[in-house]
Amino acid sequence: MEYITKKLDFSNQTLKEMNVNSKKFYNIIKKRRSVRDFKKDRIEFETIKNAILAAGTAPNGANLQPWHFVIIKSQKIKKKIKLAAEIEENEFYEKKAPKEWLEALKPLGTDKNKSFLEEAPYLIAVFEKKYSLRNKKKVKNYYVKESVGIATGILISCLHFSGLSMLTHTPSPMNFLNLILKRPANEKPFVLLVVGKPKDNCEIPVFATKKKSFNKIVSEF
Ligand SMILES: Cc1cc2nc3c(=O)[nH]c(=O)nc-3n(C[C@H](O)[C@H](O)[C@H](O)COP(=O)(O)O)c2cc1C
Repeated sequence: MEYITKKLDFSNQTLKEMNVNSKKFYNIIKKRRSVRDFKKDRIEFETIKNAILAAGTAPNGANLQPWHFVIIKSQKIKKKIKLAAEIEENEFYEKKAPKEWLEALKPLGTDKNKSFLEEAPYLIAVFEKKYSLRNKKKVKNYYVKESVGIATGILISCLHFSGLSMLTHTPSPMNFLNLILKRPANEKPFVLLVVGKPKDNCEIPVFATKKKSFNKIVSEF
């Protein structure tokens, strides 16, 4: 494709406004926490759609946009996913997980029970496309993991900004999602987002609220 350019209406904030707005965003995003206990209350499709549209604007390798999102509202499909995920998670917790990993998960209190997969009003399965198919020919995608990771970050941020809670779930392995959701072989499940409003009595692990300080995650030159 040809190299053509156009002017963009770039933001024109003052330095002060930049500080204020970055703080505003931080104050909103710092309240995001993974939730594992959802109300069955209805959520409007439009809210989910907007979050996915936001995800689709993510920077990505060569603008090949190597992602696909499956929105799951059907109770029947959610049940299928829950059953399949619990089989994998049972294997993980009972046999496959190394001791160290189980130890790291202890303060989060997670186990093989994945009831939230049926309870939450929406699941969003994010797929990464190793390659795309154009006229039945394989077209290689670049920086797939990085691109899909950034898109998923924007998706999560938008859902949180909209007042929703979510869990980033990764039952391992997740190939069952290709079968249940009828996705082709060039797509690999990246994460399964569980989306909704938390139950009124929902609590979250204190461990998850402990975030490293600025000095611990930053160095400057
Ligand atoms: C890639 C990824 C995979 C995750 N997989 C799971 C999962 O399978 N089950 C789960 O309960 N939490 C999962 N989590 C959630 C993490 O446990 C959680 O993000 C972490 O404990 C920090 O808590 P916070 O999200 O509330 O800040 C995952 C998070 C990420 C980013």
